[in-house]
Amino acid sequence: MTHPNMLEIRDLHVYFRGYEGVSRVLDGISLNVGRGERVGLAGETGCGKTVTMKTVMGVLKIPPAMVPHGEVILDGQNVLEMSAKQLLQIKGTRISMIFQDPMNALNPVFMVGEQLYDVIRFAQGDSGTGRKRFGTEIHDRAIAALEEVRLPDPERILRSYPLELSGGMRQRVLIAMALVNGPSFLIADEPQTALDVTIGAQILDLLSELVRTKGISVLLITHNLGVIQETTERVYVMYAGQIAETTPTPVLFKNPKHPYSQGLLASVPRLTGGEIAEGIRGTVPDYTVAPSGCRFHPRCDYVMSICSQRKPPSFPVEPDHYVGCWLYGKEGGSK
Ligand SMILES: Nc1ncnc2c1ncn2[C@@H]1O[C@H](COP(=O)(O)OP(=O)(O)OP(=O)(O)O)[C@@H](O)[C@H]1O
Ligand code: SF4
Ligand SMILES: [Mg+2]
Repeated sequence: MTHPNMLEIRDLHVYFRGYEGVSRVLDGISLNVGRGERVGLAGETGCGKTVTMKTVMGVLKIPPAMVPHGEVILDGQNVLEMSAKQLLQIKGTRISMIFQDPMNALNPVFMVGEQLYDVIRFAQGDSGTGRKRFGTEIHDRAIAALEEVRLPDPERILRSYPLELSGGMRQRVLIAMALVNGPSFLIADEPQTALDVTIGAQILDLLSELVRTKGISVLLITHNLGVIQETTERVYVMYAGQIAETTPTPVLFKNPKHPYSQGLLASVPRLTGGEIAEGIRGTVPDYTVAPSGCRFHPRCDYVMSICSQRKPPSFPVEPDHYVGCWLYGKEGGSK
């Protein structure tokens, strides 16, 4: 039976052991992506977006990372219990990812064509034994994938090494690789951050159009609220390893409820591509000594005594709109 959600993260805790002590980065986050749904995960730098993505994709090294509690159900299977082989199988075919830095994701010593052919062959169950078999079908699919991401002269691109391409072209190649096997789910982590603003915007427009037309479920991770507004139907706002709020995307922009979301929205006009929370005093906490209860409490103008004592659960405020803030619970007031 098909699982109703493409991704379900339940009360996920991720910690790192280091010289300074234990960094408690993710403090019980829960998040769903329905089939065909485009969901955003927004939050300022260092709030744990990439740690979340890496846990979902099974690329977080455990240890040194620890997952003391929580579940990650990807396409009906618990990622934390999967073998490396099982993970590789679903990642190469049904689920794709695009990382923050396009250069790290491409191998500089192989031509683009070799890397793209490998991705296509992998999904066909060929794990590399047929390296020399450059069938025309694979070549044609590679060309079609590069054309789809509007790269000019795809034959030349196939023969190029990653360093011979611009950052924008490399990111297009990565999008082509991510989509070539027809995945049903794509996780994209700040696909535009390494690029200049104009090129980054073009990449996002392209990605947004492709996932819409193909009906692919998406988890789009970004600190850029403009991108969230354009591309996603529902959004999670994350603060310091906790989910602050989740709502249909248009509602966040009209009616943000969590004090952190309100601060974020208020600082949007000053968005320059760097920190998003310029309008909020203070900084993201040190995770070795993370604030107790609601982690936003040292920065919050509405802080109450309960806030530092207990982590707020997710309170429903209207259909599909949940807020992790005591202001919306029975114990708190209302705002
Ligand atoms: N392997 C690791 N070991 C120790 N700490 C880590 C590790 N990976 C991430 N962290 C810490 O976890 C926190 C969250 O990092 P993460 O990369 O998830 O942030 P982010 O939300 O993706 O930020 P950005 O918007 O800058 O990409 C940071 O404080 C980071 O230092
Ligand atoms: S729970 Fe308390 S500290 Fe946290 S955002 Fe709400 S009012 Fe502010
Ligand atoms: Mg990141």
